[in-house]
Amino acid sequence: MTSTGIPGGTTTNARLLAWVNDMVTLCKPDQVHWCDGSDSEYDAMGRLMIEAGAAFKLNEEKRPNSYLVRSDPRDVARVEGRTFICSVNKNDAGPTNNWAEPGEMKAKLHGLFDGCMQGRTMYVIPFSMGPLGSHIAHIGIEITDSPYVVANMRLMTRMGQPVLDVLGPNGDFVPCLHSVGYPLTGGKEDVPWPCDPENTYIVHFPEERSIWSYGSGYGGNALLGKKCFALRIASVMARDEGWLAEHMLILGVENPQGEKTYVAAAFPSACGKTNFAMMVPPKGFEDWKVYTVGDDIAWIKPGEDGRLYAINPEAGFFGVAPGTSERTNPNALASCRANSIFTNVAMTDDGDIWWEGLTKEPPDHLIDWKGEDWTPDSGRLSSHPNSRFTAPAAQCPTIDPNWEDPAGVPIEAFLFGGRMSNNMPLVFQAFNWSHGVYSAATMGSEATAAAVGQAAMRRDPMAMLPFCGYNMADYFTHWLNVGRKLPNPPRIFRVNWFRKGEDGKFIWPGFGENMRVLAWIIDRVHGRGYAIESPIGWMPRYDDLKWQGLNFPRETFHDLMAIERGPGGEEAHAHEELFDRFFDRLPKEFIFERELLRSRLWRSPPKWGLAREA
Ligand code: OXD
Ligand code: MN
Repeated sequence: MTSTGIPGGTTTNARLLAWVNDMVTLCKPDQVHWCDGSDSEYDAMGRLMIEAGAAFKLNEEKRPNSYLVRSDPRDVARVEGRTFICSVNKNDAGPTNNWAEPGEMKAKLHGLFDGCMQGRTMYVIPFSMGPLGSHIAHIGIEITDSPYVVANMRLMTRMGQPVLDVLGPNGDFVPCLHSVGYPLTGGKEDVPWPCDPENTYIVHFPEERSIWSYGSGYGGNALLGKKCFALRIASVMARDEGWLAEHMLILGVENPQGEKTYVAAAFPSACGKTNFAMMVPPKGFEDWKVYTVGDDIAWIKPGEDGRLYAINPEAGFFGVAPGTSERTNPNALASCRANSIFTNVAMTDDGDIWWEGLTKEPPDHLIDWKGEDWTPDSGRLSSHPNSRFTAPAAQCPTIDPNWEDPAGVPIEAFLFGGRMSNNMPLVFQAFNWSHGVYSAATMGSEATAAAVGQAAMRRDPMAMLPFCGYNMADYFTHWLNVGRKLPNPPRIFRVNWFRKGEDGKFIWPGFGENMRVLAWIIDRVHGRGYAIESPIGWMPRYDDLKWQGLNFPRETFHDLMAIERGPGGEEAHAHEELFDRFFDRLPKEFIFERELLRSRLWRSPPKWGLAREA
């Protein structure tokens, strides 16, 4: 066996060397390569993917230094059904996670990983989640047999030799083992995108703080720094150490007076987080600026001054491609103009990329994400709905000047948004921290259950349902405790861009217009904005929002903000269904909050509206 990359690894970290040795013995690769994070190494990964038939270099003039990659059509998304939290005690994983007894799961994984890298190179990737050396950052080491993972980790994390330097001889790291699960034994030929969908396992051992992922090479299943480490394992570390690891974007808003305010916002997957994080202020807000710190994950720690400070643990964006356009998100497009990887999108005849929604008119001819000819009459999508761009965050035109500040940025408000077509108003502010945590824990998103033609609700507390590495009831308690220890905790808001009118159309125009809501939130944070008390929280009246540049009728705003007692009560009742699953671990504050909500609704008129209050 040979060793390449950083010669033999320049680390003297005994735990790391021992772990890599053990994994070499288990996985039996042909060679080991310690990743240095260099450009030449990145280019070499590109060449390997091209030789394997998985990748294509895009037109150098149109999309410099960028690749299009096609995955196996069976390996295209995160697999929640095969994702496990293997805590020692089943109750510590809670009712919302898959669980298996850790000893049994380890035995199964040892069987799968035994010899799984035969005929392949094992890559050892040292990576930092967060700016190198930041006290909020943490180090991971991913072992993988996928050049695609190496190339993506280079964009998504700080990776290579500098990380080993920070790790030092005694530093701590999270071991992340990954294999595509396709050993080249007995003369077996390789395929462009090796994977093993039948045996895919994404497994977390929270007490050990380790990750084992087998059988998938795609996104969050394989780039283990992202959902597996930065959310599932980090949420456990955060609980134990008194901080927060959240599925949140971070942005900064600068008003015309030059005052800058940072907020963090949680939305379930596929609710436009990347668009919100890179928002272009609308007409009438030309003097306002929005800065992006992160689009998916926030690590937030209390500072010595009693405020919360956040970093984006990632260094790149792994954004959903379809629907991204000059209208919806010009800054995301600018971020992936070069030095990017595109996965499962279509290729144009001149060697560039295309996806549904990128331009109004589709090109006359494309090669689709499966490598087949495509025309607008093909009757099928050219790009997979979960196709992605991986782009360096530094290329984002709105990237915040402080995005790599090791101290983090101070968070002054938390926003929580679901996708609700009825009853949930555009925005309200929680009465206090405990009410805010309750509101965040009960957020939900509708998915259309096509079979019955009805909107079904998926409760997704804090947008963390698939990402919390422990019992969510304990997670709620942790949130309550974090606020309790802060002298002046950030204010908490619920937002909903997705309410529909009687005509079935969205009432709120969305995108840049969300700035109007953000501007009110910022005024509230600084004690300036006016609000009145509604049964569910503090609400702006029509005149409390800035309307310059938009003709949005007062009556329509009142429709957008109305609260109906009947459905409101049903919603409060439905919270019980979520809570019942947690039995005795549910914080008692939640029972009080629900009863308070019910009684406020009960005392309110059948249709509570701003018109009568204004
Ligand atoms: C993501 C997700 O990919 O939330 O960010 O699924
Ligand atoms: Mn996400």
